[in-house]
Amino acid sequence: MSGTDVLVVCENAALTFGRGATAVVAVHGADLSIRPGDRLAIVGPSGSGKSSLLHLLAGLERPTSGTVSWPGLDPSAGIGLVFQADSLVPALDVAENTALPLVLAGRPEAQTRRPVADALDLVGASDLADRLPEEISGGQAQRVAVARVLAQQPRLILADEPTGRLDHATGARVLDALLTAADRTGAALVVTTHDPAIAARLTVRRAMHDGRLLAQEDVS
Ligand SMILES: Nc1ncnc2c1ncn2[C@@H]1O[C@H](COP(=O)(O)OP(=O)(O)OP(=O)(O)O)[C@@H](O)[C@H]1O
Ligand SMILES: [Mg+2]
Repeated sequence: MSGTDVLVVCENAALTFGRGATAVVAVHGADLSIRPGDRLAIVGPSGSGKSSLLHLLAGLERPTSGTVSWPGLDPSAGIGLVFQADSLVPALDVAENTALPLVLAGRPEAQTRRPVADALDLVGASDLADRLPEEISGGQAQRVAVARVLAQQPRLILADEPTGRLDHATGARVLDALLTAADRTGAALVVTTHDPAIAARLTVRRAMHDGRLLAQEDVS
């Protein structure tokens, strides 16, 4: 496999918030490579640095030291991040919220209908298409946030606790949607989770503990 097949590489990437005595090291020198088709779960307790690592992979945060690079990817177009605490635009209905990144990227509205319908179908939210965010539950909003990322067909899907607010069955369905979307497009999928049953469905599991990304074999 050539180097350009690698979507994103972290080399000794660290992320520190603040300075001096109050500095918090959210991520200690992490080494990680992600390739098309990878299915990675990042598990760890609250505050262990999972979201921070995902934000580094997405290019939302710059590493304080070390490097993050995207040899086989245009990070401005090829990455879809499902935020842990996502918020939908209140004035737009579910279908419009799902289409929004495509519209902002310049896609004519007529060409957003199919990917939006497919993505809402995948997460089981087709019947919500005409509702406003205030008319749906928090768990339904989380599913729409996943659909909004899937509609963009990113090559690297990063999902930050996408099942955190969902009951077990609905969470399993959202993971099905993420896995199906990734399988269809050949994308890589990275999911953070507290839930061992969710983590078990990804191919590779890696734990985070106090900002340290542990080796693969450290997770059972
Ligand atoms: N913007 C920020 N400013 C200061 N500290 C932060 C910031 N974001 C995260 N932290 C700190 O960095 C550490 C890692 O946080 P992070 O959100 O990455 O953990 P997490 O594993 O995603 O937790 P959770 O499971 O609760 O979502 C924590 O100590 C947190 O308080
Ligand atoms: Mg988090």
